[in-house]
Amino acid sequence: MTIQWFPGHMTRARRQIEEKLKLLDLVIELIDARLPLSSRNPMIDDILQGKPRLIVLNKADLADPSVTREWIEYFREEGHAAIQVDASSGQGIKEIPVKAKELMREKIERQIAKGMNPRAIRALIVGIPNVGKSTLINRMAGKNIAATGDRPGVTKAQQWIKIGTELELLDTPGILWPKFEDQNVGYRLAVTGAIREEILNLEDIAFFGVKYLVQYYWEALSERFDLKEQPQDPDNPDEIVAVMEAIGRKRGCIVSGGRVDLEKASGIFLRELRSGKLGRYTLEAPFHLNNPALL
Ligand code: G4P
Repeated sequence: MTIQWFPGHMTRARRQIEEKLKLLDLVIELIDARLPLSSRNPMIDDILQGKPRLIVLNKADLADPSVTREWIEYFREEGHAAIQVDASSGQGIKEIPVKAKELMREKIERQIAKGMNPRAIRALIVGIPNVGKSTLINRMAGKNIAATGDRPGVTKAQQWIKIGTELELLDTPGILWPKFEDQNVGYRLAVTGAIREEILNLEDIAFFGVKYLVQYYWEALSERFDLKEQPQDPDNPDEIVAVMEAIGRKRGCIVSGGRVDLEKASGIFLRELRSGKLGRYTLEAPFHLNNPALL
């Protein structure tokens, strides 16, 4: 799903989440493990108003496992609970109710101390389009996808899905927008296929991806496309274009006069990258934060 975000949409999206906050104990913030910064909403802290939060790095099956571990460590040091999952296969999702309970432990203990019977933890999944919200809800719900029905104080439209005995999920996720103002964020989202290519130039998106792989995943890139010479200066655009041309030649994207059709080569490169043919990759790492020029 691609949404053209306008200020009005953002205000509405924000209001929809804020209206639900009072019904919730916890928010599950879903981000893409391949771009844990670019797939976050820039106003998330403000929107969630201090509500307990579990950060879930999804699509971990596509991301570089060692960088995913670094990100989890980073978020934990920032004071957030964070785990990785693969919503498609369900890998890791059993951790979600466990962590949710851990986050709510004090509240649950207080309720027990007052002689109350703690009810299930109520949670909402939020995230930018395509991050995997629906996939995760369906995976977690399993055969319980039929909602549990109305509850006092909950409007009829709100449906809760029971996940085991201790967690209930709102059936409709909260949709957030990414940080559009930053052009590199746009490129990273486009490289992974999270936003439609038409918004940015296809060759520019591929250039961005090739440059990153030249810097951080040269082995995978050179093996896949049989590249011989690693660029000495990845900041020199000519050297990156030379790599794109070599990729194009390898895939037979030649037009009259022996010139490489860069647009065709770009399309092929991005398709192969997104379908996992170049292996697992992550487009931003915590150490980039120490050097904003890299972001
Ligand atoms: P959304 O509700 O947040 O908008 O996202 P949605 O669940 O629709 O997922 C967007 C795409 O990401 C889907 O692929 C989905 O299969 C894929 N996806 C979600 N979670 C994971 C994951 O953990 N790992 C991997 N590898 N993919 C994931 P699609 O191409 O749009 O559809 P389809 O291929 O499933 O038909």
